[in-house]
Amino acid sequence: MNILDYETVALLDDKDAIQIIDQTLLPGTTKLIELRTAKEIWDAIYILQVRGAPAIGVTAGFGIYLLMKHSKAKDYDAFMAELAEHKAYLDSSRPTAVNLSWALNRMEQHVREYTADGAKFELKAVIEEMRAESERIKAEDIDVCRRIGENGLTLVKKGDGILTHCNAGQLATCKYGTATAPIYLGQERGYNFRVFADETRPLLQGARLTAFELQSAGVDVTLICDNMSASVMQKGWVNAVFVGCDRVAANGDTANKIGTSVVATVAARYGVPFYVCAPTSTIDINTATGSDINIEQRKPQEVTSMWYKEPMAPEGVKVYNPAFDVTDHELIAGIVTEDGILRPPYTESIKKLFEKK
Ligand code: MRU
Repeated sequence: MNILDYETVALLDDKDAIQIIDQTLLPGTTKLIELRTAKEIWDAIYILQVRGAPAIGVTAGFGIYLLMKHSKAKDYDAFMAELAEHKAYLDSSRPTAVNLSWALNRMEQHVREYTADGAKFELKAVIEEMRAESERIKAEDIDVCRRIGENGLTLVKKGDGILTHCNAGQLATCKYGTATAPIYLGQERGYNFRVFADETRPLLQGARLTAFELQSAGVDVTLICDNMSASVMQKGWVNAVFVGCDRVAANGDTANKIGTSVVATVAARYGVPFYVCAPTSTIDINTATGSDINIEQRKPQEVTSMWYKEPMAPEGVKVYNPAFDVTDHELIAGIVTEDGILRPPYTESIKKLFEKK
């Protein structure tokens, strides 16, 4: 079985569990694990056993459903208070990917609407509605990624070189990925892309996940270290950059895996168009600019020792380890969504998109 044959996130309703691939073990070991308690779900998101903005959102949707499934709440207010508590806890697992709070808010909002703010509260029916809504979030993710793929494919041509950073692939979503969606659709249609995957220090999502899934799909993929993007662009090997993202601010600034803004800067230097692939659920119109985005800081050990037999830095050295950086909207040629490609000026194109929705 190929890694792409596994579901990134699945609801095992009869077992009261969420099943995920433990992504910390890839590519060496493909192990499916089951999450049941709030702490197990929180930990799996925090340690990146499940990661990538859309996959985190789907996990949170299933998670809040399972945590409420056996609720003994006697009335609407008690139910909503319990839901709010679980929601706040799950939401605290990672701060940058907006899909986490987006999915949790959507689940809560669905309960409000379904019960007409408590006027028609019936515990069993509400729980069944939560299950259905969480499955809808997952089904929509697959459809949205495919549409991002179709839109992204219009930006490239057969034989092109594409560079990507981190993993915005199938493993970060439920199918196709976002940044990889045009690559997978192109693969089905004989585009023969040559893909460069940045290894993505410090957690190596590019090497461990993107190179793995693209190679498994038979895509021509070449792994490069993060400091090699200028070298391949200088040689003219890259026609476009596709990256995913964790949050798009209202002015088009985008937060994505640390190092993305370096790639965007290098791409601008060499005249390579830099595209951000994002479901509209990743656009946060309540965040005005990139500097308002909360950037997750992670442990020093991820940089100094995690992947090595012995520490590769002097003991006690100061380490700065932000998990994401913000790419200035001026460096972005287009934001590829399921509803079309947004172009600058982003403040206007994003506003227009949300007015239509
Ligand atoms: O820390 P991670 O592995 O969750 O970071 C993932 C990324 O930065 C992805 O590019 C982003 O979430 C988009 S996934 C479609």
